[in-house]
Amino acid sequence: MLVCDCNEVSYEMVKEAVKKHGDNLEAIMQETEAGTTCGCCLEEGCDKVDLALPLAIAKALQELE
Ligand code: FES
Repeated sequence: MLVCDCNEVSYEMVKEAVKKHGDNLEAIMQETEAGTTCGCCLEEGCDKVDLALPLAIAKALQELE
């Protein structure tokens, strides 16, 4: 599942970052580079990706509970 098109970040990569950083968006962006180019994937409605970054973080947090 693609979370960031510009930087080719997958959901699995985001999930790994969430394991380390919890819901810390900036730390996750820094580690994965998701959301650091065009910024589209920071918006829930971004149509360039399967699952926008905020939604991917929420999903990972839920799965890791
Ligand atoms: S799609 Fe993530 S920064 Fe462009």
